[in-house]
Amino acid sequence: MATRGQFTTRIGAIAATVGSAVGLGNIWRFPYETGVHGGAAFIFIYLLCVLVMGIPVIVAEFVVGRRTHKNVCGALREMAPGRKFHWFSAVCIVASILIISFYSVVCGWILEYLFQAISGGLAGTSDYSKLFGDFVSSPYRGVMWTVLFLFANYLVLKRGLKRGIERMANVMMPLLFVLLVVFCVNSLMQPGAIEGIKFMFSPDFSAITPHVAIGAMGQAFFSLSLGLSCLLTYSSYFKDSDSLVKNAVSVALLDTMVAVLAGVMIFPAVFSYGMTPEAGPKLIFEVLPAIFGQMPGGYVLAILFFFLLFMASITSTISMSEISIAYFSEELKLNRNKASLLNTVIAMVLGTLCALSFGVMSDFKIFGMTLFDLFDYMSSNILLPLGGIFFSVLVGWVVDKKIVADELSNHGKLKVGVLKPLRFCLRYVAPFTIVLVFLYGLGVFEFLK
Ligand code: PHE
Repeated sequence: MATRGQFTTRIGAIAATVGSAVGLGNIWRFPYETGVHGGAAFIFIYLLCVLVMGIPVIVAEFVVGRRTHKNVCGALREMAPGRKFHWFSAVCIVASILIISFYSVVCGWILEYLFQAISGGLAGTSDYSKLFGDFVSSPYRGVMWTVLFLFANYLVLKRGLKRGIERMANVMMPLLFVLLVVFCVNSLMQPGAIEGIKFMFSPDFSAITPHVAIGAMGQAFFSLSLGLSCLLTYSSYFKDSDSLVKNAVSVALLDTMVAVLAGVMIFPAVFSYGMTPEAGPKLIFEVLPAIFGQMPGGYVLAILFFFLLFMASITSTISMSEISIAYFSEELKLNRNKASLLNTVIAMVLGTLCALSFGVMSDFKIFGMTLFDLFDYMSSNILLPLGGIFFSVLVGWVVDKKIVADELSNHGKLKVGVLKPLRFCLRYVAPFTIVLVFLYGLGVFEFLK
């Protein structure tokens, strides 16, 4: 087999993995989910989910990836010999392609907004909902930006692990933090900002309904990139000397920090400008540009904001693509460039169809959903939770406890005090909570609404 790449430094490995986790899930989805689910109580449950379900499943994926240093299919074959578990890699690869297809449509919107912000189009309007509606339903603009985004994605992927993925993450992740902090300070300086802070941090525990709790679990899943074998694939490039537990905790902490900072960047400004936090998915495309339009320095802020979103999202799509690229190159023996190209072409075709769901194909429905909604629904609500159950059961029940201990301790070199609680979470807590998310995704709890 061709020699395999490895991240050069521990920081590089963490930056790339945080790059995968930090994405639209943090900056787009987390604030609007918090907004529609009533604020602080949602955040409280979210943090709990990260702790008892998120970190254990990250570790589970890391154990499989780093132990084998292989793509998902090869890794599963090695971890559960003779058990046919590697068939599950098909689910991971299909799910990753479905996610990248609809995710890159939203990334295309970000590029359009970045372009509009630079060219003055955003500043020149006052009707932001019309701007958004006109753009997404135009027959070619959405497609054009989606394809362009995927092309940019390809350019990074084809440069490979160290010169492409790691180098980009090393530059973009620190820059993203700096920009976020600048936005948070700016948002906190707006008059009446305190209302936004109260909304986020003073929980009303009576607001916790099963619906809120299950929404928070689903969000934790998506945001931490769990269940897709994305973390497995990245950890297959970790060094044998990295501490898996430390890496997992760092990724979960940083991802959560970015989500909370994204809230701090958005809610105080939303309250200060008399907007409502419950706008849903349109929050950052309609509400924020309206706020920037009224702020001093809004022109520059809008450009920086959409640039920040672009950085967050491309480091995530790169990681989704890497799942199939590792598979194509190691199992089908394609070289890196061909594997990246194959991934890009498939994503471009499906991404185009998803982009058209808002325009000429809006009447084309399967199970009552447009393609965009169907891909989102199938991957986020069905395939990701299924992957989460799979990896927690695999590492909690199937793989020998000694192997897990050996891998977490780097063959006895590190002391791991958390093995027991970790295994408990993997065997019981995670599968149980994920089954709940799963049933919720299938609409079993509709009656609770
Ligand atoms: N975690 C990414 C985000 O928050 C999305 C993602 C999901 C990335 C699954 C990879 C795998 O946007």
